[in-house]
Amino acid sequence: MPEHLILLAPSANRVYAADAPRLAEAELRAMATGFELPDADVSATQVAGVDYLALRTSDVLTESALRVLSDLSATHAIFRREDDLLAPVPAQRRAPYPSDLVTIQKYQGKTNEQWTRLLLNVTAAATRAPGRLLDGTLKVLDPLCGRGTTLNIALSLGLDVTGIDLDSKDFQAYSAFIKTWMRQHRLKHTADESNLRTNGRARGKQLRVEVASSKDAHKDGDTQRVTYLSTDTTDIDGLLKPRTVDVIVTDTPYGVQHGSHGDRLARSPLELLGRALPQWQRLLRTGGAIGLSYNRHVAPRDELAALLSDNGLTPVDGPADEFRHRVDASIDRDLVVARKDA
Ligand SMILES: C[S@@+](CC[C@H](N)C(=O)[O-])C[C@H]1O[C@@H](n2cnc3c(N)ncnc32)[C@H](O)[C@@H]1O
Repeated sequence: MPEHLILLAPSANRVYAADAPRLAEAELRAMATGFELPDADVSATQVAGVDYLALRTSDVLTESALRVLSDLSATHAIFRREDDLLAPVPAQRRAPYPSDLVTIQKYQGKTNEQWTRLLLNVTAAATRAPGRLLDGTLKVLDPLCGRGTTLNIALSLGLDVTGIDLDSKDFQAYSAFIKTWMRQHRLKHTADESNLRTNGRARGKQLRVEVASSKDAHKDGDTQRVTYLSTDTTDIDGLLKPRTVDVIVTDTPYGVQHGSHGDRLARSPLELLGRALPQWQRLLRTGGAIGLSYNRHVAPRDELAALLSDNGLTPVDGPADEFRHRVDASIDRDLVVARKDA
């Protein structure tokens, strides 16, 4: 029975402390289910005192299974176990853009990038077409995108992505960041900022970016699009085409104040989601999925699941509390994923 061991990135310990192996295990389980890895047996293990995540499969690992292992949010290196020895297996990643896209920005209220990546992975795995994550055709929306952690992660994977946020300071900060970053990396791109209007009504602002990862990609028309709408996410009728999004991933307000930033706009996530979900779900394709990160102190899981069901979305249940972890005294973080089945 082939066995592969995944060495977790040291950053996982910094983000989740002692919870890192458990969260990585839950992520791999969700991915193994979504990507239908045959007879996958997932467990946490130790070799010579070092933590690994083990995956036993009935057959040799397929190309796409190796892609799944490579794309886990905490994967640092992969080994095939051969008796007492570990043979390095090169990771297979689709990463067309420099990785500093995701790591440069630091600000109060930023959603941790590893957690955002995990949320994107498990949400994509819950869709009816998870392969789109691997082939670059998955369309992503973060309807509370702040300064763009999800936007940058999606772009770094070569995906088209749209973000919405009402905080005009976040919009300006993201616009300045992405333009500077594309210029510094000498990437062929266009970036257009304009007022957002429909039928003569002012709706905020928009940024539309089209970028290619290399001159050859540009010549081949292989470009990615990032769209940022600076507007109220509970009032987006007519701004985006219905049924065009595969995954909605977002970090909801935590109900705690992060200095002068963000969360002041909506302190109660349930009230905000109650108004926003009817509009967000219309943007999802059938078979698409939504993944919400939330603070259990301000949004009880049952109420969140009921809200998703009321909006025609079917919660995808794994073992209880598998992704729940403590961030600090005021944030008991968890995620919930639901699919649009019809
Ligand atoms: C937890 S933060 C997201 C942070 C983001 N993931 C990042 O890393 O920058 C939640 C966001 O929801 C936004 N928000 C709250 N109410 C909103 C509304 N009605 N419309 C649009 N955005 C809203 C806030 O401005 C804030 O940026």
